[in-house]
Amino acid sequence: MVTRLSPRSTDLLTELAPDVERLFNRHLEAPRLWYPHEQIDWGAGTAFSDRAWSPTDYPLPDGVRSSIYVNLLTEDNLPYYTNTLTRMSPSTHPIADWNHQWTMEENRHAMVIRDWVHISRCIDPVLLEDGRRVQMFQAKVPAPETFADLICYVALQERATQIAHRNTAAHLPKDDKIGRNLLGLVAGDETKHYLFYRDLTLAGFAIDPSVMMVAAAKQVSAFAMPGTGIPGFTRHAVRIAKEGIYGIGQFARDVLDPVLGLWDVGHLENLSPDAERARLDLAAVVARLSESVERLAAKSARPVPA
Ligand SMILES: [Fe+2]
Ligand SMILES: [Fe+2]
Repeated sequence: MVTRLSPRSTDLLTELAPDVERLFNRHLEAPRLWYPHEQIDWGAGTAFSDRAWSPTDYPLPDGVRSSIYVNLLTEDNLPYYTNTLTRMSPSTHPIADWNHQWTMEENRHAMVIRDWVHISRCIDPVLLEDGRRVQMFQAKVPAPETFADLICYVALQERATQIAHRNTAAHLPKDDKIGRNLLGLVAGDETKHYLFYRDLTLAGFAIDPSVMMVAAAKQVSAFAMPGTGIPGFTRHAVRIAKEGIYGIGQFARDVLDPVLGLWDVGHLENLSPDAERARLDLAAVVARLSESVERLAAKSARPVPA
């Protein structure tokens, strides 16, 4: 699907140019230079031709294995994300430089996680490669319609990805210092990406609150972790949620709460009729979500019948 920018989106994009430049420079002022090859204990590996993979190589709960698998395949899909960002960014706009920086930083995530996965033998390399081939052949990533949609979506996604990597690291065995450390480095990069997009959305709200309000409501209500092209995604997502790594509870508390708190949509003034409707829709989505979270919490607190 070819995404075309509407005239409204083009205006917002043009007006955001100084903010993109400011936030890009801020990003560069605090570099997080780290080398993927230094994060791995290369001598700890064993060739798979000498010994086939077995779950006992690295005992882990299913939900943690699923999380590593889904997170890595999501990072593998980078070419299609870059394609979407590039298609929506004129080459003469400062956002083009940001896209290049972002792609360069994201690229090391799949490299370092895959190296660790193969050396530590924490997940089945055959399952992983089969999943990668299926997912990447589909070339499926979310396709936001407008630039406002794009930045709202990516702000949420960067935050969600940060939480998913961080919580996966915390669920690894304490003695896997290498795994915990490298997933922490990846989560740190996602934090910086989140801060860029979060503050770009804030600048967008200051310029055109109505356009941003409509985009925010649409992206929050449709938000899902990117992974629908991954074989068995629903099964893996359920396991990941059951393990307490990432599910609707984390989405509501760790992603939506801070982002909506900053957007402060309840106090926006002089909204267009469309944007007023979007504000109500968003409030309804948030209310439904918190009901679901409460229901789930009550269900898991209920004693299991003997
Ligand atoms: Fe990443
Ligand atoms: Fe990121």
